[in-house]
Amino acid sequence: MKIQVCVGSSCHLKGAPAVIAAFQEAMKNEPSGKNILELGGCYCQDHCQNGVVVRIDGRLYTNVTPDRVAPLLKEGAESDE
Ligand code: FES
Repeated sequence: MKIQVCVGSSCHLKGAPAVIAAFQEAMKNEPSGKNILELGGCYCQDHCQNGVVVRIDGRLYTNVTPDRVAPLLKEGAESDE
């Protein structure tokens, strides 16, 4: 599962660092071997008004907050199955 958090200036101001930290924390708890998780950043996705923007395997998610990270990972893992 490839996770990209927008690190553009608008998303940064809307809390991208906290979202990245939440993904990092959630990834620590992922049993190894179940899912291959790759976390990275991406440039502005042209949805600045709806940041924080995250792409998971190409799918765009808007208004992402740290409390949405676990459900997004679960949803992404289920769509991989
Ligand atoms: S800065 Fe994130 S969508 Fe523009």
